[in-house]
Amino acid sequence: MAGYVVEFGRDGGRIESDGRLDAAAYHRNHQAIRTVLQKFLAGKSGDVVEAGSGTGQHVVDFARHFPEITWWPSDLNEQHLKSIAAWREHAGLANIRAPLAIDLSDPSWCGQMHDGSGPGALLAVFCANVIHIAPWRVAEGLFAGAGRYLRVDGRLLLYGPFKRDGRHTAVSNAVFDTSLRDNNPEWGVRDIADLEQLAGEVGLVLGETVEMPANNLILMFERSKAA
Ligand SMILES: C[S@@+](CC[C@H](N)C(=O)[O-])C[C@H]1O[C@@H](n2cnc3c(N)ncnc32)[C@H](O)[C@@H]1O
Repeated sequence: MAGYVVEFGRDGGRIESDGRLDAAAYHRNHQAIRTVLQKFLAGKSGDVVEAGSGTGQHVVDFARHFPEITWWPSDLNEQHLKSIAAWREHAGLANIRAPLAIDLSDPSWCGQMHDGSGPGALLAVFCANVIHIAPWRVAEGLFAGAGRYLRVDGRLLLYGPFKRDGRHTAVSNAVFDTSLRDNNPEWGVRDIADLEQLAGEVGLVLGETVEMPANNLILMFERSKAA
C-alpha cells in the first residue's frame, strides 16, 4: 500500500546539508510520469507550473528532459520550498525558476501569477499526489487557478490515485483512503466524477486518462470547446 508524506524529511527520508529532501516515491514513479508528460510536452515551449512540488526532484527531472520549457515549481511548506530551491541550485539548470509560494486553497494562487513577475499563460499545470492529502478546497483552488491561468491549448495534468464512479480502482487504494481519512477527515482519494464537476465549473474538461503503475492514474484536463 502506498504511504503518504505531509513533510519530507520528517518521514525519516534523507536530508542533505543544503536542505535537499528526498521522496522515496520519486524514485519509483518519475520515469513513468515523465514518459506520459512527454506525449503532451514534446516539441512545445512555454511556462509550466508544478503545484505542490514537495522535494523539487520531479521539476529537476522534467527541466532536464524538456529544456524548451520554463518550469515554475511551487509549494506552501517552508521546508519544501527550501528543498526545491536547493535542488534547483544543485541542478544548475537555466529553465527552472525560483519556487513560488502557492497555497492552492487560494484560487488566485500567489501574487506573481498576476503582477507580471511570474509565468505567462501556462502550457501546463502538473500536480502529483497533492489533492488527496489536503482538504477539498485545495482541489477547488487548483482547478480555479488552472481555469484562470492555462493558455488555450494548455493542460492540467493530475497524477495520483483516484476513485471511479464512487469505487476504488484497487483494494490497496481503499486501504490507503481509509488511512488518509483516519488521519484527517478532510483528506481522501478523490472521485474522478467530482473532479470533472470542478473542471466544468472553470471551463475545463477531462480529455485523456492514462493508467499508471501502482494503481495510479494521470488525468489530463483541457479547455472545453464550449467554454
Ligand atoms: C505527498 S506530497 C507530493 C509532493 C510531490 N508532488 C511529489 O509527488 O513528490 C504533497 C505536497 O502537497 C503540498 N501541499 C499540501 N497542501 C498544499 C496547499 N494547500 N497548497 C500547495 N501545496 C500543498 C505539500 O506541502 C507537499 O509538498
